[in-house]
Order: sequence, then C-alpha cells, then structure tokens
Amino acid sequence: MLKALLRVKPVEPAGHVDAGEPIEGSLDGEATLKRTLTAKHLILLGIGAVIGAGIFVMTGQAAAFHAGPAVTLSFVLAGLACALAGLCYAEFAAMMPVSGSAYSYSYATLGEGMAWFIGWCLVLEYLFASASVAVAWSAYLLSFVTTTLHLPFPDALSSAPIAWEGGQFIASGQLFNLPAVLIVAAVTGLLYVGISQSTFVNGIIVAIKVSVICLFIGFGASHIDTANWQPFIPENTGTFGEFGWSGVLRAGSIVFFAFIGFDAVSTAAGETKDPQRNMPIGLLGSLAICTIIYVIVCLVLTGLLPYQQLGTAKPVATALEAYPQLAWLKTAVEIGAIAGLSSVVLVMMMGQTRIAYTISRDGLLPRFLGKVHARFKTPYVATIIVGVIAAALAGMMPLNVLGELVSMGTLLAFATVCIGVLVLRYTRPELVRPFRVPMAWLICPLGALACLTLFAMAFREHWHLFVGWTVLGLLIYFGYGMRNSKLAKSS
Ligand code: ALA
Repeated sequence: MLKALLRVKPVEPAGHVDAGEPIEGSLDGEATLKRTLTAKHLILLGIGAVIGAGIFVMTGQAAAFHAGPAVTLSFVLAGLACALAGLCYAEFAAMMPVSGSAYSYSYATLGEGMAWFIGWCLVLEYLFASASVAVAWSAYLLSFVTTTLHLPFPDALSSAPIAWEGGQFIASGQLFNLPAVLIVAAVTGLLYVGISQSTFVNGIIVAIKVSVICLFIGFGASHIDTANWQPFIPENTGTFGEFGWSGVLRAGSIVFFAFIGFDAVSTAAGETKDPQRNMPIGLLGSLAICTIIYVIVCLVLTGLLPYQQLGTAKPVATALEAYPQLAWLKTAVEIGAIAGLSSVVLVMMMGQTRIAYTISRDGLLPRFLGKVHARFKTPYVATIIVGVIAAALAGMMPLNVLGELVSMGTLLAFATVCIGVLVLRYTRPELVRPFRVPMAWLICPLGALACLTLFAMAFREHWHLFVGWTVLGLLIYFGYGMRNSKLAKSS
C-alpha cells in the first residue's frame, strides 16, 4: 500500500505547443482539449476568478469583527502568502502545462497518495467555492431586485432549506435558493459549449466588475474621513483573533478567500498557447492587479464608514448608503457585484471540471469524467456532473460555514505546491524550467510556512469539518482510485 501511495507520475516537460495541437492525456482516437488561450485571456481569467465574494462580502465581516481598518494589512498578508505560492505555481505551470494544477504537480513530486489528497482539497476549493459564490450572487441579485427595483420575490425560493446556527443545522422554513441554482445552471451551459465562448463572456464581465470598482475608488476616495482610520489596529479585546495583531492574522485567514481562484489560471494550462511564457504572466499578473485593487478598496471602505458598521452582507453598498449623493454609485456597485460574482462562479466551475477531467484520466476517478466532447472539445461529462452537484449545494446548503473550509483546502494545496517545487529541484534538476522561482531555498519554505500558518488559524475552529472531508476522500481513494490507477496498471 505504501508503494501505491508513493508512486510518482513521471514528469515529461512539454514541448512547445500551439493552438489546436493535441497534448496531455490524449488517448488514441479521442478528442482532447484545444489550445486557444493567450496571456491576456489568462490575466482576465485570473481577475474573473479572484475578485468576488471575498472583497464584496467578506471584507466587511473581517473589518467589523476581527481587524478594523487594519483589514487592509490582512489583505497584504494574504496577498503575500499567495504571491509566494504564485511564484511556485508559475514554475510548475510553465514546466508542466497540464490541466490538473496542484494535483498534477503533487503527482509528479510527492506521490499518488498526496496527489489524491490535494486533488480532494481542490474539489473542496473549486466545487464548494463556486456554490458559495453562487449563494452570494443570489443575495446581491435579490437585494437589487427587491430594494432597488422594488419588485416582489417569493421568500420560499430565496434561500436554502437548512441553516447553520449556533453550531448546528436547523430547518430554515424555506424551499431552496432558486437564483443560486439558476446561475450555476447558466454557467454550466456556457462551459459545456466551449472554453473560447466562456472566456469571451468572462472578458466582458471582468470589464464591468473592474470599472465599477474603479468608480467606487474614484468617487469614494473624495468622501474619506480619516478619523475612521483611527485606531488603525483596534486594541485586542482579550480574545484571540478579536482585533490587535491576532485579529489581523485571523482576518487574513478569512479574506484569503478573496485570493482564491488565481490558481485556477493554472488549470487552463492544457488550453494555453505557449504556456511556458504565458502561464507565469497570467498567474502573477492577475495576482498583482487584484492585490493592488483590494488594498485600495479596503482603505476607501474603512475611510467611508466606521469599521463597526461594515459587518453586513454587502459592505461596499452599505458604506455608500451613508452618502445619499452617491446613491447612483451604490446601484452601480450592486450591478458590478452581480456581474463580478457570476464570473467567479464561471472560473471556479471551469477549474473543477478540468481537475475532475485530469484525475479521471489518471484512473483515480471513473473514466467517463475524462470524456471530451467531439464538437465542442470540452470535458462535457465532468461539466454536467459538476454543474448538478454545484447547483444542489448552492440551492440546498447554508454555505456560510463552508467559506473557511474552502480556504483550508486551498491553503493546503498552495503549501504542497511550494514544497513540490523544492522536491522536484532535487529529484529532477535536469528538467527544463522556463520559469524558475528566484531563491527557491527561501521562497518555497516561506510560502509553505505562510500558507500553513493561515491554515492553522482556520483549522483551530473548523478542524472537525476538515477531518470529515478528508476521511470521505480516503474512502474513495482506497475504495476506487488505488485499484484503478492508470500509473499502477502501466507499471
Ligand atoms: N476569490 C473568490 C471570491 O472572492 C473566490 O469570490
């Protein structure tokens, strides 16, 4: 069994590849994914995945209950951890332009057992994040429809039938969250049809989202009251994580959610032209742009309103409500959030289908998940299955508790990628690395340490949920994956 867990998939550096050229995972006579994406597409994909519920929803809670105006520092900390991990992702993604992201990288470095575990963490990241963001999207849409347009909407179809309160599940009295299901269904249809169409729609949405944020920064900045920034780091209440430096760290682990998704860029490596050049640009470029935007938005947000008042479900709109002359901007922000959150759902679901495709091609999940549509060249079976599960989660589940679960899965995947880069430098030093992490001996351990620290902050509170998820993953691996592994059969 130990041998199975430790077997490593040989890394073969990809040659230079071009549009339409079949690549990894192809089986004789079977359709494969198409290479159509450029660096610009990837940066847009990254921004589309990253800016979403994290900044539009979670910033307010993090500021009001954990960090105050210093939530800005929390974003810097989370951004730094992501930048370190991003450098490591860039080295792997340029060297191994495949669809499986951290899963594929672990398979090549740390063995099948670890690869499966990380793949399972990535499911937590992409599948549950797409469902959570769909629920946030639904909240913004309903607020816009009912309070801005003054149109009616039945309560029974506006939220999940179960809620999470006081550490337990209770019946909410509602039927299901219809808008959340609808957005997941629409995104599934788009992903079924094709990656080019999906990235085209994504480009339009990103433009709307970024424009609205620029308007918020531009008009909001002139209304900042610097008294709201005092004290910048409110004094700790005596409880770990409630203000003070521990609060800044705790808020860092919450707003980390805002950065989740930049790694989704790497899952499109199998569909990228000249991935050796374009992958690092796409990954690091989108991360840098988003970090700058977040820091400025946080400064404006906490300058507009005392941080204690920002703990709402839509803090950016809440801050603007205090300024009647900016009512038009509040409406624009709501529309931007609705557009922005939908693009996050799109990229998250795309990431999940590509991960499922890759894992199934390795035999660790059933093979039908790896089927590619003859005409659309998309992993259509995985797309439909992921769509159905995400829609069910979004419609039925109270997802507030799952945000941190999503972050925990992602942080572990990031830490593994950092360690994997170092391992491969020692085990396969001869591999051509079009992009190399500078000072890897420092950057890689620092990246792993930063991610594991943020992981520990969330694990302290939600360890039982994470352990439950891991046990489920182990059951699937030992029940199916280990026996059907393609690597095992070929060796
Ligand atoms: N980073 C994404 C968001 O904030 C997941 O919604």
